[in-house]
Amino acid sequence: MPGNSFGEMFRITTFGESHGPVVGVVVDGVPAGLPLNEEDIKFELSFRKPGKSFVSKRKEPDEPKILSGIYEGRTTGAPVTIVVRNVDVISSSYEEIRYKPRPGHADLAYIKKYGYENWDYRGGGRSSARETLSRVAASALAKKLLMLTNTLVAGHLVSLGPLELNCNVSFKEILCSKYSPLRCSKKDFEKKFKELIKNAIAEGNSYGGTVEVVAMNPPVGLGEPVFDKIKADLAKAIMSIPAVVGFEYGLGFKAVKMKGNEVNDEIIKKGNSIGLRYNTSGGILGGITTGEPIVVRCAFKPTSSIRIPSKTVNLKTNEEDLVSTKGRHDPAVAIRGVSVVEAMVSLVLIDHAIRAGVVPSVKLSKDDSEKIEKNWRRYMNLCKQ
Ligand SMILES: Cc1cc2nc3c(=O)[nH]c(=O)nc-3n(C[C@H](O)[C@H](O)[C@H](O)COP(=O)(O)O)c2cc1C
Repeated sequence: MPGNSFGEMFRITTFGESHGPVVGVVVDGVPAGLPLNEEDIKFELSFRKPGKSFVSKRKEPDEPKILSGIYEGRTTGAPVTIVVRNVDVISSSYEEIRYKPRPGHADLAYIKKYGYENWDYRGGGRSSARETLSRVAASALAKKLLMLTNTLVAGHLVSLGPLELNCNVSFKEILCSKYSPLRCSKKDFEKKFKELIKNAIAEGNSYGGTVEVVAMNPPVGLGEPVFDKIKADLAKAIMSIPAVVGFEYGLGFKAVKMKGNEVNDEIIKKGNSIGLRYNTSGGILGGITTGEPIVVRCAFKPTSSIRIPSKTVNLKTNEEDLVSTKGRHDPAVAIRGVSVVEAMVSLVLIDHAIRAGVVPSVKLSKDDSEKIEKNWRRYMNLCKQ
């Protein structure tokens, strides 16, 4: 399989390249009756958008166009196609890497797999993270549908290079990080992160970072034994994001150094229901959601395109050479990566919610549509406050 699609019942297929005319997505399996307009998609895209401080300076308006699957402001049950034009394309900045594959990027692997003569070197072609725009566009539909179960998904940057956010953060603060230029949930850390990233920019270098995403109030019972566990699908979804090098949920890798009684979560009464005291397992036990918040984290490596020269092989001369990357690049991909991780978590949750019958697969009732629209407005306002 060519690998451009993701999901079973709620299935996305992404298309387009960094310097092609458009990037876009076909979303199949959207139930009829979902209120949807281009502004909903634009809202989610705005948090991934380049052209701002501390991220790539590529100036893209990221205006989505819905080409199919809606009639009079509601989905029809047919595939929803969304396209976004690539506007600010400067392919000449990539002339050097045409013959000099960048260390750390996908260039060499694509050349080896598809052949040099077929390689679209312009802006990284299909391997460019411009593709992740398509995932974020699709996630607007997923997030809207999750309004039916009152589930909210939001993320923030929890580490950048050597700096780590080391305090408790509320879900509200995570939601509001959408309006922070560094996706920081705490103002004092935002300041420190800014200083660090300014140094990297001045040096022509880059930093890695850790992103945390939380899904509040997820439906109970999502995830199928044995191979379609929610943790397995989340891991695949998140590891498919360019530059992600690691995934964990709950205590994750920290659990290795702890003892059983510290890691096991206590089962307690929570009003009329039974819950967990500390949520050390990040909302997942046995690969199935417990109803506690889902907490996942992933590690992004530092951006590979840097101005500091490094060794490569010049494919024109077949000699070892030096390459330094020009063009506009993110000094830390983890910053814009937050929106992409949120998107992948939302896509996994809605796919499983439809598979479990928690969200209708064919048609939403009038009440469902109204509830979704009301909760969506509330969510947009909550992020701003
Ligand atoms: C939101 C986002 C933005 C990115 N921006 C850049 C960039 O400006 N320059 C770059 O070299 N890599 C960037 N990347 C990472 C590359 O796309 C990625 O390293 C490359 O496709 C190779 O894949 P791999 O790192 O997973 O092996 C970005 C990734 C994400 C998620």
